[in-house]
Amino acid sequence: KTELLKINSINDLKQISWPAEILKRGGLVVIPTETVYGLAALYNNENAIRKIFEVKNRPLDNPLIVHIADFSDIYDLAEDIPEKFEQIAKEFWPGPLTAVLKRKSTVPDIVTAGGDTVAIRMPDNEITRKIISLSGPLAAPSANLSGRPSPTNPKDVLMDLDGRVEMIVDGGISRVGIESTVVDFTGEFPTILRPGFYTEDDFLKYYEKVLLDLSLKDKNQVPKSPGQKYKHYAPKAEMYIYDYNLENRIDKMKKDLESYKNQGKKVGILTFNEYLREFDTPYVKSLGSIKDTEENSRKLFSSLRDFDRYNVDIILAEGIKEENLGFSIMNRMKKSAAGKIIK
Ligand code: TXA
Ligand code: MG
Repeated sequence: KTELLKINSINDLKQISWPAEILKRGGLVVIPTETVYGLAALYNNENAIRKIFEVKNRPLDNPLIVHIADFSDIYDLAEDIPEKFEQIAKEFWPGPLTAVLKRKSTVPDIVTAGGDTVAIRMPDNEITRKIISLSGPLAAPSANLSGRPSPTNPKDVLMDLDGRVEMIVDGGISRVGIESTVVDFTGEFPTILRPGFYTEDDFLKYYEKVLLDLSLKDKNQVPKSPGQKYKHYAPKAEMYIYDYNLENRIDKMKKDLESYKNQGKKVGILTFNEYLREFDTPYVKSLGSIKDTEENSRKLFSSLRDFDRYNVDIILAEGIKEENLGFSIMNRMKKSAAGKIIK
């Protein structure tokens, strides 16, 4: 049975040591972070890590992120750390940045999928960092079954993992709502492997140039981050995105909604507050105001899970302008829709 633990105070050591004890003896605990919930195990306990892959049904060639509580933890995990990195970490950690660095051989192969780098992140959740400081660094992928949308609240974790993990630590709703920005710092210039809350501009303060993994702009390129090649974030229904630049896209969505309804289909609509009232179906979800991309990012994955609960056949989703955080949100939406965009 899965225990749901709500920790009321960062000072309640007795409560906080409970998940830490489970982790120390090789158990799995779901931890809250500011991005999405993570399915955690001690990074240096290979049996526990193997369980993560089993529980999620995750391919073994997809490496995990190691979560730390203090900057100094990276010296146990990585070497040849670039000089600038300490300053960068000061600005972005704790926070939604994952740094890919040269690994130390002490990190088990199963964590790095045998590669010569390790991904490291310091999450911005006080309770989670306290747990890590008691247990040691934690390898944690998002706490969903492989291929499904990442969970941003305990209810969505339970939907996938009830009975499969010992404990879920309840940290409420994840503030960012999409996974961290994964940046490879091993080269002369940083390369963004997975877009997230932090975008190119955020790193231009430190480097002349910031590179984007080629696969982010060109579907035919193989991504450098192994996880990016898999099917992802998929709701049960078939999803279509209506491109931001499509003329009269609300009218087009309304028309398609009616014709799918006439075919007897149950149709979900993913839109914004501004257009909520345009659509004649009970299965409408808003990502918040079209002017508030942070709200949009926070609400994306939980909305997709709500469509699963409604059991819709089709989701018609309004696209977002692909700049800054909007680019990162669209990266997730396109994968959810398996690339089906109406332009
Ligand atoms: O926000 C997040 O990053 C969340 C929370 C729980 O921290 N975690 C998360 O983990 O999204 P996961 O496993 O779902 O995604 C990790 C991504 C995958 O695409 C994986 O391939 C990539 O990071 N990755 C991990 N280690 C890597 C490495 N050494 N080199 C390149 N990519 C790596
Ligand atoms: Mg994931």
